[in-house]
Amino acid sequence: MTKKDDIFKTISGPFEFNETVATVFDDMIHRSVPLYEEIILQQARMTKKFYRQGTRIYDLGCSNGNFTASLIGEMNDREFDLIAVDNSCPMLELYNKRIAAFKTSGKITSLEADIQDIDFENPSVIISNLTLQFLSMEARETIIERIYNSLSDGDIFLFTEKTINGSKDLEELQQEFYYRFKEENGYSQIEITRKREALENYLIPETVEAHIERLNRCGFKKIEVWLKWFHFTAFICRK
Ligand SMILES: C[S@@+](CC[C@H](N)C(=O)[O-])C[C@H]1O[C@@H](n2cnc3c(N)ncnc32)[C@H](O)[C@@H]1O
Repeated sequence: MTKKDDIFKTISGPFEFNETVATVFDDMIHRSVPLYEEIILQQARMTKKFYRQGTRIYDLGCSNGNFTASLIGEMNDREFDLIAVDNSCPMLELYNKRIAAFKTSGKITSLEADIQDIDFENPSVIISNLTLQFLSMEARETIIERIYNSLSDGDIFLFTEKTINGSKDLEELQQEFYYRFKEENGYSQIEITRKREALENYLIPETVEAHIERLNRCGFKKIEVWLKWFHFTAFICRK
């Protein structure tokens, strides 16, 4: 059972995926990302549908393994090969401990690495949830181009991001409803403000249009926003 996230009751300062965050991560993500369980579940199902036997699945920014856990359940006794990557040592320690307890016919390898530095070897599904948003704009372009080039026709790239709206009015509406969601999940105004400040200049959200333009530039032409909740957008891109 994960600890309750009360980090920003007492702390302010830049956000890091350190040990303090890792120990409360599950509580934090469930109380901060609307429809999180639904996103993970449907991604695991899409992965099952599009995974080609003998290829690999890559999870970029795997954190403590929620996607892996869901995928194991969906794949049941089917074989698969998953590479789960994260550059936070405390996150991967939790990942390894947690995933070791599951029974699965899948081969699971966790890698402590920057997602920008890994090679994609024979992938059919690449997934990245709420992680590209921490890369520079140049790095986002480079990695998506590499993802596109590594996939074969029909393969998929799934990703979810915090997004913004280019119109000031609609951006304010998104913000208002998002903060309301966080308050309803027990975060106080001061915690919400401190977390927003902590993430400033670290999590850089973009508009849905900017994402689609980049995906197009990198080669993806078949793109669907399959889930959207104000600030949160989940994409499926098919090569
Ligand atoms: C918001 S969490 C992702 C949540 C996770 N994908 C899920 O669905 O539960 C972002 C994760 O990405 C990792 N991360 C951020 N930048 C990274 C990078 N450049 N390379 C590898 N991991 C990174 C962080 O350590 C963190 O665990």
